[in-house]
Amino acid sequence: MSYLAGKHIVLGLSGGIACYKAAELCRALVKEGASVQVVMTEAAEHFITAVTLQALSGRPVFTSQWDSRTSAGVDNNMAHINLSREADAIVVAPASADFMAKLLHGRADDLLSLMCLARPLDTVPLILAPAMNREMWSHPATQRNVTQLAADGAMVLDVGAGEQACGETGDGRMLEADQLLYDIGRCFAPKRLAGRRVLVTAGPTYEAIDPVRGLTNRSSGKMGFAIAQAAHEEGAEVCLVAGPVALPTPRGVRRTDVRSAQEMQAAVQSHADDASIFVAAAAVADWRPAHSAEEKIKKDGSGEVPALSFVENPDILAGVAASERARSGALYCVGFAAESHNLLEHAQAKRLRKGVPLLVGNIGPATFGQDDNALLLIDDSGSKEFGPASKLSLARQLIGEIAKRLPSLPA
Ligand code: C5P
Repeated sequence: MSYLAGKHIVLGLSGGIACYKAAELCRALVKEGASVQVVMTEAAEHFITAVTLQALSGRPVFTSQWDSRTSAGVDNNMAHINLSREADAIVVAPASADFMAKLLHGRADDLLSLMCLARPLDTVPLILAPAMNREMWSHPATQRNVTQLAADGAMVLDVGAGEQACGETGDGRMLEADQLLYDIGRCFAPKRLAGRRVLVTAGPTYEAIDPVRGLTNRSSGKMGFAIAQAAHEEGAEVCLVAGPVALPTPRGVRRTDVRSAQEMQAAVQSHADDASIFVAAAAVADWRPAHSAEEKIKKDGSGEVPALSFVENPDILAGVAASERARSGALYCVGFAAESHNLLEHAQAKRLRKGVPLLVGNIGPATFGQDDNALLLIDDSGSKEFGPASKLSLARQLIGEIAKRLPSLPA
């Protein structure tokens, strides 16, 4: 279930080429189950028509403070009050340099700025998605305005970098619709992990036999990536150590790519001291070839097969769980067990063997590579089933369960 489902978003457009991205954002918000009321400034109407946004939002667009149509079911000719009172958030995308300068001064000479000023400060967040030329963005006046707007309670999103409509290259592009969608949705997530650092491992490892061959497994990394996203949504700073997978990095998450179990262990060790939660979702190879050949092992036609011998990989999770910080409760460790049968029995035994307070069991062959999963959570008080559901929905539930079990942060 999306954090945006059932939310009512006022989507404000000020003038800028990025108005075309606002159309895509409007559509994406509706698809997530939000209702959208579009409000446009006069400048925005030079870039895109209200017709498009009415069609995408399914509601008439408001453009003027003198518009006497019924707004939010009320006939008092006060659209700025009525529309801002029913909003769960006001999102201005694009927010032009001029529009932000206007907001900064509390000016309100058009419907959108009027609504931003009239919104109930404590209950209706204002989210600004800046969009402008790189020189305009880096100008001290704009940067000063951004800082002051944030201090006044607005959430000013970052900007993208790259080629701009004017032909220059640099910072100032409006974020893409999917990035905006994530940032807006995240506003509505509970922030039970605020102030926490979360370390997650995900995906398989790859153990080289020679430069072109290796041992790996069918883990896709989807569950671990979903956990990293869910932790970030809940306000955590997240570091994701990923084995070789073809997945995009969840927004806001710091990612370190590794290949072998030994590389994964080194990356985990370098981040574990800062973390307060460690979730080991990676499917680490149990063994690696005792020797990795420097050159490709050649088939010589004799029918002879190479003799491979293996050594055991370090158990990353068990090592972290045995550390002083984990044993003192400063680092909460969560393990995974991918089993093919007798899940409860194997997972209970694994929890004790790894020395972790919480272990999450799942059926490996049923879930590897899939978007759905089912989880069995085991701690010292028993076990609880979650799902079947999407990996993201399960990740959010798992993060909620972890949050419940954490010692509270010092005040
Ligand atoms: O022993 P097994 O591989 O079944 O244990 C699974 C759990 O231990 C997972 O949380 C996995 O990420 C972690 N693990 C690890 N290092 C290993 C093997 C497993 O961190 N070498």
